[in-house]
Amino acid sequence: MKNLLKLADLSIEEIYQILESAKQFKTKQDSTTFENKIVANLFFEPSTRTQYSFQVAQEKLGLKMISFNPEGSSLAKGETFYDTVLTFASFGVDALVIRHVENNYYNQLSNIGVPIINAGDGTGNHPSQSLLDLYTIYEEFGTFQDLKIAIIGDIKHSRVAHSNLDVMKRLGMQVFISGPEIFKEEQYTYMPFEQAILEMDILMLLRVQTERHTQKVSYTNETYFLEYGLNVDRVKQMKDHAIIMHPAPFNREVEIASDVVECSKSRILKQIENGVYVRQAILKRSLEK
Ligand code: CP
Repeated sequence: MKNLLKLADLSIEEIYQILESAKQFKTKQDSTTFENKIVANLFFEPSTRTQYSFQVAQEKLGLKMISFNPEGSSLAKGETFYDTVLTFASFGVDALVIRHVENNYYNQLSNIGVPIINAGDGTGNHPSQSLLDLYTIYEEFGTFQDLKIAIIGDIKHSRVAHSNLDVMKRLGMQVFISGPEIFKEEQYTYMPFEQAILEMDILMLLRVQTERHTQKVSYTNETYFLEYGLNVDRVKQMKDHAIIMHPAPFNREVEIASDVVECSKSRILKQIENGVYVRQAILKRSLEK
């Protein structure tokens, strides 16, 4: 049974296998479809990209899907997260795609008996996002070795940052964090924003995740944009070949200027596109015998 809980569980070889499988889907060399398999998408936390790109991937794979609506469910009657997942497993579905606010929620599901694909756990891991980020980087540069990336912004509350920083290091990239010092985590190498703009091959911007903050931060949208927003003038200082990434949703005129979102260096929409192929590969991996 092949779960996808966090990338730390996968060998480098397995990561490359998923990326290669995604490429096969993208280049239409893999037309795998599944008959009579059902996947349940259990999103206990809001999502646009992850939830619906999993749905598009499921449609492309010919899967049947159930999309859980937490607001209209028996959670309102006090049913627990565990019992809700147990219910879907008992329906006999073939895989569960789950997002939940609690870090490592999947630890309590080790006996559930159905493959679990983690669509994001709290501030912990977001493996399908990391894989689509890796796919996009590999597609651009053809290698990971020695590429320099700075992940900029609210590192502390970002599961994307945590997933990516670890796996990118394992793949031979030089990884840095940047942005406001209040979001810094000591285990990662910090680089001032203005230096990162000049030196990086990849600038990966993050949203300030106010919904996860327990204390009010001193930044307003305006002051954040002035100090750390990627605007056209800053983009002009980037290396010629350097690219801009963002897992999205992005806040225009906060971490990124509106006219940078679709500029020639931006790969943000490419990331979203690649997410479908990567999620086809992830679903195939979990559903194949
Ligand atoms: N990038 C990402 O996880 O976006 P969603 O929260 O919209 O799924």
